[in-house]
Amino acid sequence: MAKVNSNGHANGSSGKTNGNKSDGLASSNLVDIQSGLISREIFVDDDIYQREQEQVFARSWLFIGHESQVEKPGDYFVSRMGEESVILCRDREGQIHAFLNSCRHRGMKVCRYDEGNAPVFTCPYHGWSYATDGKLVGVPYFKSAYDQKLDKSQWGLVEVAQLCNYKGGIWATWDGEAPSFLDYIGDYKLFMDLLLDGWDGTEGGTEVFGGIEKWSIPCNWKFPSENFIGDRYHNISHRSVDLVGIGPSGGQRRDTQERAGAVAMDVSFPERGHGSLNFIRTDDTSIGAYQHSPVVSEYFAYCEEQRRKLWGKRSRVVAGPGTMFPNMSFLPRQPRTIAVWHPDGAGRTEAWRWFLVDKAAPKEVKEFLRQYYIRYSGPAGLTEQDDMENWNYAHSASKGVIARRYAYNYQMGRNFPAQPEGLEPKLPGQAVDVTKGVAGEQNQRGFYSRWAEFMDAPSWKELATWKNGK
Ligand code: FES
Ligand code: FE
Repeated sequence: MAKVNSNGHANGSSGKTNGNKSDGLASSNLVDIQSGLISREIFVDDDIYQREQEQVFARSWLFIGHESQVEKPGDYFVSRMGEESVILCRDREGQIHAFLNSCRHRGMKVCRYDEGNAPVFTCPYHGWSYATDGKLVGVPYFKSAYDQKLDKSQWGLVEVAQLCNYKGGIWATWDGEAPSFLDYIGDYKLFMDLLLDGWDGTEGGTEVFGGIEKWSIPCNWKFPSENFIGDRYHNISHRSVDLVGIGPSGGQRRDTQERAGAVAMDVSFPERGHGSLNFIRTDDTSIGAYQHSPVVSEYFAYCEEQRRKLWGKRSRVVAGPGTMFPNMSFLPRQPRTIAVWHPDGAGRTEAWRWFLVDKAAPKEVKEFLRQYYIRYSGPAGLTEQDDMENWNYAHSASKGVIARRYAYNYQMGRNFPAQPEGLEPKLPGQAVDVTKGVAGEQNQRGFYSRWAEFMDAPSWKELATWKNGK
C-alpha cells in the first residue's frame, strides 16, 4: 500500500493501493491535504476505480440533462450516471423521470438511441415493453407462458431514488438517503443560478442547443474535474490559442473582458466538494467582446442593463469554470457550457458537452454563439484540444510502477488572503483573493478532501457533515 509521506514519495515498494479500509488504510491516507500531497494511485488503480463507482457515483447527485431536451410527453434523452446508462424522459402526464436503461428480464438496453420520442420502450431482446412512466405494460405470451401470473407492477424499469429539476438543469441520485439537491449544493447555488438563468437574469431562461457532443479521452475522470474546479495555473497550455485570439469577436485573449480591472477569486466548498473560479469586476467591460457583431453586442448590452437592475452588485461576478462534485463541470459565461466526465475505467473518460443559450435570444445571437462555442470548446474546440493533451499524457505517464510511487503536488497558494473588505458582492464558501498570487490550488484540495470522505464514509449520515455541526 502506498501511503503518501512528506516528500511526496509513496511508502512501500509494491505501489499497490486500493483505498479500501479493510486493509487498514483509509482513502484519507492517499489524500494528504495537510501536506498538499495526493497519491497517483487514486487516478490509476483499478480497485480504487471500482470502489469509486459504489462510494461516489452511486451516492452523489449527478447531472443528467436539461429539460429543454425532453419538452414534450414521450421525449427522451439517453444519459449516463457513472457507468450506467439511464433514460431521461417525460411521461404522458408531463412528469420527468430517469430510469436505468436495462430491461428487468435479462438486462438488454431498452433504448439504444441517443434521443427521440416514443410512446413505449420496447426491449429488442424478447419484447417486454415499458411505458414512459417506467411501468411494465407489455409481456409477450403473458397468458400462455406466464399463466398470467407475472406481477407486472413489480417489474417496471428501475427508477432513480431522487430527481431534481433546478431551473431546467436535471440532476438525479440513486441514493434515497442523500440530502435534497438544494442541500447538496448549499451556497454553491449562486453558480448554478449564473449558469442556468438567462443572461438578462430571467430565472431558468436557458435552453440547450440540439444534440450534445460526446467523445472519449484516455485519462481518469478526475483530471478534467479538477482542472475545471480550480486550475488557473495552466494558461501556458493555451498560449497558442491566446496568440491566435479566439474571443467572441476574434482578436482577443479568451478572457480579456473578465480580467480587465478585476479581482480574481477562487471559491471552494470543501464540506461539499464543489468549487469555482471567478472574477469580480469593478466595472462592466464585457460588452466590448462582441464589438464585431452589432446585433450580439446590442443584445448583451441590453442583458447587462437588465441584470444590473435585477441583481445589483451580484452582476459584477463573472463566474469562470467550476465543478460540482463529483463530475459536472461548467462555464457560466460565454461559451456557456456543461461538461460531464463519465468514468469509463480508471484510464478512460467519456466526455459529454451541453451548450446553453438564452431561450429568448434573437436567432442571430444564437447562431453567433453556436459558432463561437464550437470554435472554443469540445473535441474540435481549440481550447479543449490543449487541455486534453495534458490530461491524456499525464495519465499515461503516471501509471507505471515507478511513476505511481510519487505523489502529485497540491501545495500552491495555501496562504492567500480572504476577499478584500468592502469588495462586493461577498462570495460564499471559502473565497480567497488570488489576484496577486495569480493561481492557487485551494479548490483542488477541497475537491480531493471531499473525495476521500466519500470513499471512506459508510453512508450519507457521515457525509452530510454540515448537518453534523462540523
Ligand atoms: Fe428484455 Fe428479455 S431482455 S425482454
Ligand atoms: Fe484549459
